[in-house]
Amino acid sequence: DLAEKGGYPDFMLKEIHEQPRVIRDTLAGRLVDGHLAIDELDLSHEELNLIDRVYVIACGTSYHAGLIAKNLIEGWARIPTEVEVASEFRYRNPIITPSTLVVAVSQSGETADTLAAIRDARVKGAKVFGITNVVGSPVARESDGVIYTKANKEIAVASTKSFLGQVVSLTLLALLLAQSKGKLTTNQVRLLFRELADTAEQVEVILSDTAAIDEAALACKDAASALFIGRGMGAAISKEGALKLKEISYLHAEAYPAGEMKHGPIALLDDGFPVIAIATQSPVYDKLVSNLQESKARGAMVVAVATEGDEDIKQHADHVIYIPKVRDAFSAITASVPLQLFARSIAVARGCDVDQPRNLAKSVTVE
Ligand code: G6P
Repeated sequence: DLAEKGGYPDFMLKEIHEQPRVIRDTLAGRLVDGHLAIDELDLSHEELNLIDRVYVIACGTSYHAGLIAKNLIEGWARIPTEVEVASEFRYRNPIITPSTLVVAVSQSGETADTLAAIRDARVKGAKVFGITNVVGSPVARESDGVIYTKANKEIAVASTKSFLGQVVSLTLLALLLAQSKGKLTTNQVRLLFRELADTAEQVEVILSDTAAIDEAALACKDAASALFIGRGMGAAISKEGALKLKEISYLHAEAYPAGEMKHGPIALLDDGFPVIAIATQSPVYDKLVSNLQESKARGAMVVAVATEGDEDIKQHADHVIYIPKVRDAFSAITASVPLQLFARSIAVARGCDVDQPRNLAKSVTVE
């Protein structure tokens, strides 16, 4: 058993540690002469250039990868992008035209709602790209093109390495769309790609010293509830952080865009209430810091995931988890990792089975 887990106490930890490899494998061979090489999508630059609307559809953790992708596709390619859980998308009447691209994200490639949404979208005339971890899975077979995340088999029910593989794959897709639309030059793409590749090492750095993460987890383990906050990219990252925590530790967790706190969740805060904030360098950093001040003023216990070298943040947080500096566009890749470890540490401290949480299945093939 221990051999299967590569010497780690559980599959989740093993899979978290595989992430630098997943990033490297997902990127291998993808940049050729300054151009994104995603030939398996089988669409010319002219066809890609015609796309004027993107829907990302998915469930669970894969949906959160979609939220990250929205920021990137809109930010770089300037194409309006909606992200929707598949079980909602399929039962409404979304606006689909021949220039609509539907991107279906599914680790297993067999989630019932995601598959049904793909079928519907194709009947309505959309092009569908699948992003999946399982070769030959139904999502792969039923899409017009597929990008495989190179996570390899994921055993822990709570997704970690395949989430990172999805985020990296969607980042490639966003770069491809931006390049096809003429919104990024070859040089910009080269630079971004290099920085994207550097995240593999940055994740290694995070994995090499987890003391601050474990300490923050110990401080939060007996809480009844926790609030995850962030803005921009951080808002999307915080959703995945909250999901990971509730999935494996059964500690109720909720994510909120930090600017919305005053419209509800701030009422929850009192002495020692854990507020986990994505406080990495970004255009909205100062705004986020003011939310931390509001939280501290109400006695909350603030855990901040922050950029290395940010000494000021210590004034606003009880626990700081430092991660290497990356551009905001890549912050989901780095900032998600300490949140995975944080959730796992809490789950272990609470005596939970981190690989097999109660009531959850690895893939949901029924409605
Ligand atoms: C289940 C799993 C999650 C996963 C979700 C979507 O809920 O427990 O880890 O994110 O299904 O699965 P998919 O295979 O479509 O990504």
